[in-house]
Amino acid sequence: PSLVVGVDVGGTHVKAGLVTATGDVLELTRTDTSGSSEGLVDIVVGVVDGLLTAARGRQVVAVGVGAAGLVDHARGVVVLAPHLPWRDEPLRDRLEGRLRLPVVVDNDANAAARAEHRFGAGRGEPDLLLVTLGTGIGGAHLVDGRVQRGRHGLAGEYGHMTVVPDGRPCPCGRRGCWEQYASGSVLGRAAEDLVRQGRPGATVLRELGGGDATRLGGEHVTRAALAGDPLAANLLEEVGRWLGHGLANLTSALDPGAVVVGGGVVAAGDLLLGPARRALAERLPGAGHRPVPPVRAALLGNTAGLVGAADLAREGSG
Ligand code: BGC
Ligand code: NA
Ligand code: ZN
Repeated sequence: PSLVVGVDVGGTHVKAGLVTATGDVLELTRTDTSGSSEGLVDIVVGVVDGLLTAARGRQVVAVGVGAAGLVDHARGVVVLAPHLPWRDEPLRDRLEGRLRLPVVVDNDANAAARAEHRFGAGRGEPDLLLVTLGTGIGGAHLVDGRVQRGRHGLAGEYGHMTVVPDGRPCPCGRRGCWEQYASGSVLGRAAEDLVRQGRPGATVLRELGGGDATRLGGEHVTRAALAGDPLAANLLEEVGRWLGHGLANLTSALDPGAVVVGGGVVAAGDLLLGPARRALAERLPGAGHRPVPPVRAALLGNTAGLVGAADLAREGSG
């Protein structure tokens, strides 16, 4: 029973592990994402080398990488990663040259969608829409269980749809992108603002930040909200509504059978997904006369991307 290395290069962390044919992860590792374009390639190579050692003789047949950015999967090129230094980065060829294993590269959310469809919350649903809320918003649409890639392999960049003309700036270089209103990092930034403004009631968040509000992330807001903090719950409600607005647009365009929402913030459960479902039902043209897709929390947590990338690489090597 051979193994495949799965790697997820996100905006803040590189997560990786040895993945079995049934999608189980052994030896999960997590490293900070940092450095230049070459430095980041070095980090990936180092992480994979470490896992090859950890495999201790068990056969590893391929490496699958999911990267947070516009990826041309056919050529193995990261065209543009808004939250990372990669621009027209020939990642597959570079990694193959150094690792001496077949490498497959895909967009991180495409990879996560594949994993949720095969092993997680999307099982049994052939027409699936997935969005992941992390540093940005990732997306993928599966038809008959296959990721729809578009003419140039770049489909599914829902996070950069304009939802507010001339709105908040985005690292993609434009303004008003959806991911500036509904991602995990937006939650963190909103929490930081509340603490800085010295808002009465922001005590729980202030304590979670431990004196440094810049450290606050979506997970802190989730923890505070689950502990009953009303300000944190409001932030989740607001982000949930933005999520629902975007999902209404996407449902109009794609008519999926179900929506799976992934990323760390789904740990907030219905505090986030409740408002999202309500906003989706309110905003979807034809609601009341048409099915509104169910919105489900992803099941694979933060390993979905690396499991999906490994699974794709396994298919290619089989
Ligand atoms: C990128 C996507 C990525 C998403 C989640 C967005 O900013 O453009 O390619 O899937 O973040 O990481
Ligand atoms: Na995608
Ligand atoms: Zn953008």
